[in-house]
Amino acid sequence: MAISDFDRYPLTFGPSPVHPLPRLTEHLGGAQLWMKREDCSSGLAYGGNKTRKLEYIVPDVIAQGADTLVSIGGYQSNHTRQVAAVAAKLGLRAVLVQEKWVDWPDPVNDRVGNILLSRVMGAEVRLDPAGFGIGFKDSWKQALADVEAAGGTPYAIPAGASDHRLGGLGFANWAYEVAEQERELGVFFDTIVVCSVTGSTHAGMIAGFAALEDAGGRPRRVLGIDASAKIAETTEQVERIARNTAELIGLERPLRDDEVTVLEGWAGDLYGIPVDSTLDAIRLTGQLEGVILDPVYEGKSMAGLVDLVTRGDISKDSTVLYAHLGGQPALNAYSALFTHTQRLET
Ligand SMILES: Cc1ncc(COP(=O)(O)O)c(C=O)c1O
Repeated sequence: MAISDFDRYPLTFGPSPVHPLPRLTEHLGGAQLWMKREDCSSGLAYGGNKTRKLEYIVPDVIAQGADTLVSIGGYQSNHTRQVAAVAAKLGLRAVLVQEKWVDWPDPVNDRVGNILLSRVMGAEVRLDPAGFGIGFKDSWKQALADVEAAGGTPYAIPAGASDHRLGGLGFANWAYEVAEQERELGVFFDTIVVCSVTGSTHAGMIAGFAALEDAGGRPRRVLGIDASAKIAETTEQVERIARNTAELIGLERPLRDDEVTVLEGWAGDLYGIPVDSTLDAIRLTGQLEGVILDPVYEGKSMAGLVDLVTRGDISKDSTVLYAHLGGQPALNAYSALFTHTQRLET
């Protein structure tokens, strides 16, 4: 099967916008930088990368006759917020296990931003004290059992919609979308930079670009930036999902090891806790481009991009596409970091 053979339920407006970042490019003085915007590609509760993944999962939800989506994430999970929105859009219920993935002292951490939006959209939100982890949790299995016990038909969506048979397809198709936009714009992105935590965003891209390369496309680097501070787990998950997705979309060879690159160095010590480079990257992108990043994911991957360009690891003649995966609602739970304006010298 090829990617075009899979059913896709439309939840986005269409291809996500791609645009250059001229002031950030000039400031860093190296590669040409562009951005592709998953944060504004859907009208569903501010969108984000999970919306695109869910486009390939919803046909299975419908085929199975499920009436309740059951998923899991942190208190400020962007993923569960997007699941709540999709449930609302489809006329289904949502049960969301929200764990204390981040020991963050903001007193409204469990009330504002993503979790507030999920409540507005009618999801059942179950707060759970368990810490960060992208595996299958007992609390999630309990939520599934509870829906069944109440006579419902649950549909299980794992953290980040990642460790799911169809989880990598959304971003495999993203690769094809990029190739089409490159033709329209007359550019070629030799380097892609993407944040990686539960893995299927980066994994899907790897599979999609590998298939394009095998169909005669030019090779390129897809660099994942770990934001979980658990590089071994992230890499294992990216690699596994990339291989599964590649097989699913008909890649006729195993992925090469050099096609799976997850870089560490910008996550700090813990998932969800920003470090100085995260905040610098958020301010830099905000002040030079008017583009908003969050302190959990995109601030960390942008910090990676800034360093890679500054150090010359991404060369001056490169053209880079940074995948903006959304996540801004979580900023509301980090207000203590931004009580004063700090203008950067640019
Ligand atoms: C805003 C944002 N960026 C990046 C990621 C990482 O994507 P993935 O979990 O597919 O690795 C997520 C979700 O985890 C996210 O919500």
